[in-house]
Amino acid sequence: RTVAVVLAGGSGQRIGLATPKQLLKIAGKTILEHTLTIFERAERVDEVIVMMNPGFVTDAQSIVDRAGLSKVTQVIPGGTSRNATTQLALDALAHLPAATTNVLFHDAVRPMLSQRIIEDCVTALETHQAVDVAIPSSDTIIEVDDELITDVPQRSRLRRGQTPQAFRLSTIRDAYAHAWEDPGFEATDDCSVVLRYSPDVPIHVVAGEEQNMKVTQPVDIFIADKLFQLATSATPELSEDDYERQLSGRTVVVFGGS
Ligand code: CTP
Repeated sequence: RTVAVVLAGGSGQRIGLATPKQLLKIAGKTILEHTLTIFERAERVDEVIVMMNPGFVTDAQSIVDRAGLSKVTQVIPGGTSRNATTQLALDALAHLPAATTNVLFHDAVRPMLSQRIIEDCVTALETHQAVDVAIPSSDTIIEVDDELITDVPQRSRLRRGQTPQAFRLSTIRDAYAHAWEDPGFEATDDCSVVLRYSPDVPIHVVAGEEQNMKVTQPVDIFIADKLFQLATSATPELSEDDYERQLSGRTVVVFGGS
């Protein structure tokens, strides 16, 4: 059995609106609904649970009801950090058999996840206990301390982590059990919890996609909206001329501000 956990417990401080970013609309639908619909359509996902910002649980529940998302079995309040939200999700899945259940944790604010990535994650769990999704970095990544560079790791070895992150339920449960014993426990994702607290578990990496972006900064709403327009545009394939037209006029003007 495969359960998708959609993490929507955050408040989107970097976007800075009163409404959490997962409830903002792009291309006519909330980001949360886009994401939930992807899992609803995923053949190999049996069940979906939504971990929602505690102040907006009824909003999430009505999105689920109105869209008729039949795979969603629970909409429950998240915690005060992403990892606390993951733990609450694990608690909500306590009744499931740990050895035979797969769990996929996905950021609600990555509404362009492809079915291919979900498929690859579930397939990888047939032979691995933990799976991450990542893409190469176009930018050089530097390490800093107090605004001074301390290291410039070789770019070809670096990846940018996305979600889903997929695990056998027993694996992620064990890792979190150990993590909470560490008073200094802090992480921004779930694979790093396995890496640090269950170091014997190899974590397989599946290829992510640029489109699987995380809506994080105000500009991301604009980019995501444009990407949705492209994906749903009547023209099935854009010619090179179309692309050039897209890139020449409007986009440059908006970003350049001139
Ligand atoms: N998340 C969560 N519970 C939290 C914090 C975050 O479930 N307590 C979720 C967010 O809703 C989001 C995902 O984790 O879907 C990725 O986190 P991030 O982009 O950092 O979201 P926010 O915490 O909402 O954003 P910010 O850091 O700007 O406040």
